[in-house]
Amino acid sequence: MPFKAPDVAIDLGTTNTMLYVHRKGIVVNEPTLVVVETRDHHLVRAVGDEALYLMGRTKDTMTAVKPIKDGTIADFDAAEVMIRYFLRKAIGSSHLVKPRILVSVPTSMDSVSRKAVREAVSVAGAKEVLLVEKPLAAAIGSGLPVYDPTGSMVVDIGGGTSDAAVIALGGIVVAQSVKVGGERMDQAIIDYLKKNSSVVIGGPTAEDLKKDLACATAVTGENTVTHVRGFDLLAARVMDVEFTAAQAHDAITEPCMAIVACIRWVLERTPPELAADVMRAGIHLTGGASQLLGLDKLIAAQLGIPVLQAREPGDATITGMGYLIENPDLLASVAHSAINAN
Ligand SMILES: Nc1ncnc2c1ncn2[C@@H]1O[C@H](COP(=O)(O)OP(=O)(O)OP(=O)(O)O)[C@@H](O)[C@H]1O
Ligand SMILES: [Mg+2]
Repeated sequence: MPFKAPDVAIDLGTTNTMLYVHRKGIVVNEPTLVVVETRDHHLVRAVGDEALYLMGRTKDTMTAVKPIKDGTIADFDAAEVMIRYFLRKAIGSSHLVKPRILVSVPTSMDSVSRKAVREAVSVAGAKEVLLVEKPLAAAIGSGLPVYDPTGSMVVDIGGGTSDAAVIALGGIVVAQSVKVGGERMDQAIIDYLKKNSSVVIGGPTAEDLKKDLACATAVTGENTVTHVRGFDLLAARVMDVEFTAAQAHDAITEPCMAIVACIRWVLERTPPELAADVMRAGIHLTGGASQLLGLDKLIAAQLGIPVLQAREPGDATITGMGYLIENPDLLASVAHSAINAN
């Protein structure tokens, strides 16, 4: 029986959870989702990929629970069960000494929510829990010179939150996060269709429309038209309605502008020398929702600063956390400086 479990990093995302194990790399990348019995939420039927598979096929007897909402634990029991399940998948359950676990949190998370994260991970099977701010991990994962005196800016746009931070000398100088991300964009498309076409669509359909049709910048060329199947509230039956790229743009404009406002807030509070560095080197985007068509161009146009997209935007945070796991000295310095250890 192996004595001591290896260090583990968990990027506890609103949409996706990823685990990195010391000397192994990324071993889990699954939806942040749990399916439970409707009559008793303690009876867990599936977690992660299996839960997503079941979600579209569940009967009334089963309910899908999202343990994390807007980057924060929304259902403590479901979060604990999910983390325990992923940990077992990542390292097994036969170690005598539990692992030390590094977990990502949004920069604006309050101390009560941080405590809930620590508690859930601890109960799920950690000897010690360390927290790291998402944009700091994302910046390290993107290979930015975070330990230099020059300022780097990273904006992590995930499913539930967008975290903007200016980083220098290994720590966060100014940061802000908003509870706006890819899932809010999906909801905006759902709301738009309901309001303007009286049609109700589901989350997965909205997500497809966001990825395939929506663009953050105004539609200038051909206004692509697609057909959406949903439940027509007026006709009381399933119908196909037309949805154009211009309409999709209108729908997602508000969440996109909220992200721009968050970045602007950080820039306005950044010391001038560091702001000048950011103007020169550009803003680095990470997170799955940063792949929204035109979002980079919108941010660049609104703020007058070049914007660069990470090569693997969805993996940047866990990659940075993995780097910290592999370099205990850096982990210790991050744990003492940038992390609110409450
Ligand atoms: N090509 C794409 N275009 C637009 N959005 C995308 C694309 N690919 C993925 N997304 C969106 O990215 C989001 C998930 O991103 P990510 O995995 O970074 O979030 P997360 O880490 O789980 O959430 P958070 O960090 O906010 O808690 C989803 O809303 C998904 O729809
Ligand atoms: Mg994330």
